[in-house]
Amino acid sequence: MKERLTVAMPKGRIFDEAVELLRKADYQLPPEFEDTRKLIIELEHEPLRFILSKPMDVPTYVEHGVADIGIAGKDVMMEEERDVYELLDLQISACHLAVAGLPNTEMSKVAPKIASKYPNIASQYFREQGEQVEIIKLNGSIELAPMIGLADRIVDIVSTGQTLRENGLVEYATIKKVTSRLIANPVSYRLHEREITDMVARLRNVLNVHA
Ligand code: PRP
Repeated sequence: MKERLTVAMPKGRIFDEAVELLRKADYQLPPEFEDTRKLIIELEHEPLRFILSKPMDVPTYVEHGVADIGIAGKDVMMEEERDVYELLDLQISACHLAVAGLPNTEMSKVAPKIASKYPNIASQYFREQGEQVEIIKLNGSIELAPMIGLADRIVDIVSTGQTLRENGLVEYATIKKVTSRLIANPVSYRLHEREITDMVARLRNVLNVHA
């Protein structure tokens, strides 16, 4: 009898691609998986339980061991630095972290302000550039900040670039390419090594990558 694994799934932009990938790897996710408001979903024919969480919280559930494994963006992993194993680059939800702002503008000479939902990534980036900045933490719609005079620049995810374009903003620098990763709790990894390595193998097969 296989052990039931708990998988933390990020709701939002990564979710649909992650579901598609799991289905390609032959996990029998029910048709209503995408539409339900349920937060815990147990599979009937697989020893798997999914918990549906905010993307930023996935590494927290995995680090605390209430989820054995999870799917998390590299952006979230960089921001949080949790004690988890990164097992596989799932090559989904490709995007990048960028510095953006209003076109043809200089940053303020004194205490430039940077708005971001990634305060750690933003402050590390500007520290490395030798710039002293003030970080303003926001939780979403980051692009508003330069438009309404809250910040000189933002640090945010750019995927299609549509949000920047439609709001008249431009990119000033790329910080890092981002894709989603399969992560595991280190203790769970030891306890459920067989089940977890089986999942990694099935996903690798779909992704056509080899160890
Ligand atoms: C993300 C990100 C940008 C947008 C980029 O926001 O913060 O706002 O998507 O995507 P694009 O380049 O394809 O336009 P998200 O939709 O996750 O919502 P949020 O504003 O609540 O963070």
